[in-house]
Amino acid sequence: MQKIAAVSLQPGMVIARNVFSTEGVLLLGTGTVLDDAYIQRLRLFGLTSIYIKNPFTDQMADSDIIDTIPEVVREETRVQAVQIVHTAFQNLSDTGQVDSQQFKETALFLIDEVIKNKGAMIHLTDIRSRDGYTFGHSVNVCVLSTLTGVQLGYNTLQLRELALGALLHDTGKMLIPKEILVKPGPLTTAERNHMEQHPDLGFDILRRQGEIPLISSHVAYQHHEKFDGSGYTRNLGGSEIHEYARIVAIADVYDAITSDRPYKDGTLPHEAYEIMMSLANTHFDPVILRTFLNQIAVYPLDSIVRINTGEIALVIKVIPGLQTRPTLKIIVDAAGHRLNNGPEIDLTKNLTAFIDKIFTPTEILDLDANLA
Ligand SMILES: [Fe+2]
Repeated sequence: MQKIAAVSLQPGMVIARNVFSTEGVLLLGTGTVLDDAYIQRLRLFGLTSIYIKNPFTDQMADSDIIDTIPEVVREETRVQAVQIVHTAFQNLSDTGQVDSQQFKETALFLIDEVIKNKGAMIHLTDIRSRDGYTFGHSVNVCVLSTLTGVQLGYNTLQLRELALGALLHDTGKMLIPKEILVKPGPLTTAERNHMEQHPDLGFDILRRQGEIPLISSHVAYQHHEKFDGSGYTRNLGGSEIHEYARIVAIADVYDAITSDRPYKDGTLPHEAYEIMMSLANTHFDPVILRTFLNQIAVYPLDSIVRINTGEIALVIKVIPGLQTRPTLKIIVDAAGHRLNNGPEIDLTKNLTAFIDKIFTPTEILDLDANLA
């Protein structure tokens, strides 16, 4: 399964994962073979990318080697959460009222599912339309933060406070004019100053809601503070920033850099991993960052990579904490011959072998075509 930008879609590609609109309507189901009309329809709905099938996995002798990619939250759950958050945030910008109950219930069912799937890693990023970015982002930041809270050994109460704060972290953005929010280019100084008020604006609304724990409101208030004190809005640093907000700050940036935007493709997980690591101590709490990154599949299942010995391989197994050394199955030998049942290499045992390249979806299709 490979995520491919909507602009690169071609007839004949096979959909690997259901595609939904922001309203939760199924646009195209798994297994659909794309034609020009379908591609037109996907672009019309403002989808920036979709998942397509990896031709190499289908051709392999034991093609069930990667049956399903274990997910932290099922797609149906995610779509349902995005829908509720969409309606609730829409209400907030129309009426100024926060439907606390809706947010609390959503946080609860997301927590339930993250706990149920404990041990699953983040392999996939969700697909968002241009208009639905903030809603999908809020849900994903909630999932990533909750997962981190579980790893840190949080109890139920802590997980509820954290998840709710994460879901509501960008509440203040509902009060920022849409022209600024969705402006594709860089913001002017005045626009940026306005945008940077969203943590204050969010806190101001949320702290007045009796049903929302004050600590969750503080997550919205503090999520742009940085560990070294260089963030906004109050230049808090280190332990002055609540631990929940330190978690959400990490999830927020990770989700922002890995998701596709109308003006750019999302960064691949291994690049995002490096970027996040480079921000330890300055932007992020290094201990929490380590816990967070251990849950990210740097080389997700079903990725295609090149090893330093020249072979090309499929990622078939990933272990949390050892994500940079997955188990691989060779699909092209060093001489360039396709193998339908190549050997497996466990990189945690073969310490001289390392991955020196990960193939983009377009490169995978080219590779498949050139080997035929
Ligand atoms: Fe924010």
